[in-house]
Amino acid sequence: MNFFTALFFLTIFANHVQGTYRPVVLWHGMGDNCCDDESMGKVQQVIKDALPGIYTYSIMLGDNEREDKKFSFFGNINDQLIKVCDLLKIDENLKYGFDAIGFSQGGQFLRAYVQRCNDPPVHNLITFGSQHSGISDLPGCEKGDGLCQLMRTIARRGVYSNYVRTHIIQAQYYKDPKILDIYLEKNIFLPDINNELFKNETYKTNLQSLNKLVLIRFTEDKTVVPKDSAWFSFYNSEGELLDLFHQPIYTEDWIGLKSLYENGKLEFKDCEGAHMQIPLEYLIQQVIPYLGSDIGDEEDYRDNILIEQNNNDGNTRLSLNIQI
Ligand SMILES: *[C@@H]1O[C@H](CO)[C@@H](O)[C@H](O)[C@H]1NC(C)=O
Repeated sequence: MNFFTALFFLTIFANHVQGTYRPVVLWHGMGDNCCDDESMGKVQQVIKDALPGIYTYSIMLGDNEREDKKFSFFGNINDQLIKVCDLLKIDENLKYGFDAIGFSQGGQFLRAYVQRCNDPPVHNLITFGSQHSGISDLPGCEKGDGLCQLMRTIARRGVYSNYVRTHIIQAQYYKDPKILDIYLEKNIFLPDINNELFKNETYKTNLQSLNKLVLIRFTEDKTVVPKDSAWFSFYNSEGELLDLFHQPIYTEDWIGLKSLYENGKLEFKDCEGAHMQIPLEYLIQQVIPYLGSDIGDEEDYRDNILIEQNNNDGNTRLSLNIQI
């Protein structure tokens, strides 16, 4: 290797060390918070180990982790999204855009960020076990989770009743296929971001601008009903599960999914296991490759990324705190 070749490699290396990797934004699920060492903290660590110097940002609402968890059950997601759009916009490190990973409900919320704000813009959006087409059953609670039990107690008044529909986050993506007209009229979030009534062209333009939309479903998911909501499948009024390709949101391209698919930008993946039990190996092998492209260069770097797998026994499973 002559001097100039050496210098060339050194330059590439130096570039990466200085952190030209595209940053990554995470949004956690219900019952979790931004920063727990065993959950979002762990995910951030895995990303930083694979892509040294990368900037990661884990969304937190409220002033601390406890409040952040509370906001995953209670509030108005439309207001929360306005707040998140502000938070991401003022962060200097994100100004050239970022990749995003949404966990469970955090996935459809990040999709809403793309559709409504996308400033700074998202490059790749990856969602894990999200409820893109809604849920037809409220999620159960883990033993001892008082906030979750309170959410369920309040929701029992009726998910589309006046108080619940604007104060309980899970009601805002609850879709009862037997009373679609009530859902369309009363639900304050999901019919809007899925363009089920009014067709907002900005939503479509923004979603279509993604480089990749990666939808990951958990094969043994018993928390999300139906688990295939992660892939945009949902029940019709007869209770039959329809995949995305047999619904008007796709055939009439309400939000840009058809365009994404036809351009090879919509991917469907399965992760073996229960809801939010993510094997560390899966995260490293299947998700990291979507991250870390160079911000100044649209060319994808993923083939060049060396993924260190030696310090991982292959069986480690990230058991995230997230319930949905
Ligand atoms: C469509 O969505 C954009 C982005 O959120 C918003 O600014 C605009 O007001 C919406 N259009 C209508 C007609 O609601």
